[in-house]
Amino acid sequence: DLIYVLNGPNLNLLGMREPEIYGSDTLDDIAGRLEDLGQKLGLEVDLRQSNHEGHICDWLHEAQAEGAKAVLLNAGALTHTSIAIYDAIRSIRTPVIEVHLSNPHARESFRHKSYVAMAAKGTIAGFGAQGYELALEAAARL
Ligand code: DQA
Repeated sequence: DLIYVLNGPNLNLLGMREPEIYGSDTLDDIAGRLEDLGQKLGLEVDLRQSNHEGHICDWLHEAQAEGAKAVLLNAGALTHTSIAIYDAIRSIRTPVIEVHLSNPHARESFRHKSYVAMAAKGTIAGFGAQGYELALEAAARL
């Protein structure tokens, strides 16, 4: 089975970006670990990152068209603003698992609202880079 792992704005800078909040692992480190875990779980992982809202919408549509089993989505700050991503998730039948490295509810109030959560199957947040692996295990069990 195929799993899309979609990452939004500024997650290309993971490892350098506010490491006290987001940790020192890069997105490539995470991709490598997901690939290893995916092999064990019999899952093919396709990880992507974009700073552009429309790309995330396009890739959500593509995940369904390609028959992906699930999408792991860390939409970055678009989580808190994007009705387009909310609608895109609602437009596909592919289950979406929301992922955040940090725990947005323990941070600024503008991070407390999640449009992604309103349409997602569930959320894993606050466990750092490990959250992606937890989400992949959840996807495997869907
Ligand atoms: C984030 C949390 C968001 O609030 C923030 O804008 C990010 C990263 C996380 O993974 O903790 O860019 O999605």
